Amino acid sequence: MPAPNIDTIVSLAKRRGFIFPSSEVYGGLGSAWDYGPLGVELCNNVKQSWWRWLVYERDDVEGIDSSIILNRLVWQYSGHEATFHDPLVDCRECKSRMRADKLEGYFPEGDQRAEFDANARLRAGLVKCAECGSTNLTDERHFNMMFRTMLGAAADENDPSALAYLRPETAQGIFINFLNVQTTMRRKIPFGIAQVGKSFRNEITPGNFILRTREFEQMEMEYFVRPDAEHLKLVDEWVELYLEWFKGLGIDAANLKLHEVPQEELAHYSKRTVDIMYRYFPERPEEERQWEELMGIAYRTDFDLRSHSSKPTDAEGNRINPDSTEDLSYFDETTKQRYYPHVIEPAAGVNRTVLAVLMDAYSEKTNDKGETRVILKLSPQLAPIKAAILPLAKNKPEIVGMAKAIKRSLQPVLRAVYDDTGGIGKLYARQDEIGTPMCITVDHQSLEDEAVTVRDRDTWEQERVKVSDLAEHLQKRLKPYPNPLPEPV
Ligand code: GAP
Repeated sequence: MPAPNIDTIVSLAKRRGFIFPSSEVYGGLGSAWDYGPLGVELCNNVKQSWWRWLVYERDDVEGIDSSIILNRLVWQYSGHEATFHDPLVDCRECKSRMRADKLEGYFPEGDQRAEFDANARLRAGLVKCAECGSTNLTDERHFNMMFRTMLGAAADENDPSALAYLRPETAQGIFINFLNVQTTMRRKIPFGIAQVGKSFRNEITPGNFILRTREFEQMEMEYFVRPDAEHLKLVDEWVELYLEWFKGLGIDAANLKLHEVPQEELAHYSKRTVDIMYRYFPERPEEERQWEELMGIAYRTDFDLRSHSSKPTDAEGNRINPDSTEDLSYFDETTKQRYYPHVIEPAAGVNRTVLAVLMDAYSEKTNDKGETRVILKLSPQLAPIKAAILPLAKNKPEIVGMAKAIKRSLQPVLRAVYDDTGGIGKLYARQDEIGTPMCITVDHQSLEDEAVTVRDRDTWEQERVKVSDLAEHLQKRLKPYPNPLPEPV
């Protein structure tokens, strides 16, 4: 049973130290969230799982960490300055500001996006406000979603030479480093470059907790292949691999589905994109409104490497990029050909993965007293804490000493905590609610038999284990940890 809605997770996340509304002491900041002690562990575990899976376990992927602020020209030649915008409209009745292309009536039925005049439709009253249903809307304006900043203390606000952007995707940092990585690591096509890090978009309508925020984290990989590779098949292969990875994180396949992005909605760089969707809104009665994008897998062609290269020319023979000083082409020793590699790009969001994982792990169980308890059935590899060591009598120094010693001995092997802040029932309930797979109780008997009680989060079953066997026992029980691995392509 996954969470019935996102609000259930918002409340659990705040109550238990996963995620807090940001800047609360000043009344908050719309759609910004801070990750607390357990949230940062969960995010790190998601990122580590991804990094291990791609960079360590495969033999054809390297990792990098590029700057968030890049030369403005990167965004000019990537196409983001000209095309990374959303159409914005205001409702004259209720004063709401919205993305026009998400409104009922915006697209003519069965028509292609390029073939219609949106403002004519808006003026004719064919488009409806999402808030109040009025058709009294303004013309659309294009709003570039990149956050602007000025470089240098003395820079004038209007000086175009000082203008810079916070990156709206991590991908461009990979493209501009393609040759650096390829030559220094002596890589041959096909190979991939992975990067995880923050991206920023001035979203018109952020919302739904951490699903759509202006600051978020991405896990992106650009997989470089030969121009004649079977690109569309490769997209499907990466889709399958990611489905397995998500399932390995504990997400039920029933809550995942694929969405082939229609041609007219493709990003400017994409020839094909398949989105993996998660059921973030199970409470919505219409099945098709329950889903939202978790990640996308795009075939980006050679668009980016070409755009950033100094040599390619247009139909008139003019260089398409007169500012670049490098040619990002690749010489293929096997075919003796020089070309711009094509790219398959799986692009996932850390925050959306975390939300999907939390929603899917949520469950409720009734105890002997008829009380409902929340159990967060997180996969052991993702659980912020793997084992909690709980003394049965906190006023008995020998028991407390033994419990603390066990915590210290487990720490090098797995993340463990010591907790004596309540009665045992309360302590178990708290650990169940934050997803700790194992609780270890030290009692009076432990002082005599050098054994402890190990309690399982999901079944509440208990067993007695010798302290000397504890680390090995826990590691076995915590499988799959550190990571279940899908087969590489
Ligand atoms: N480089 C390609 C790219 O950035 P995208 O579909 O725009 O593609 C990839 O973004 C993923 O990043 C999304 O599937 C989503 O998981 C995450 N993402 C994008 N915008 C987001 C936002 N405003 N808030 C949270 N996550 C976001």
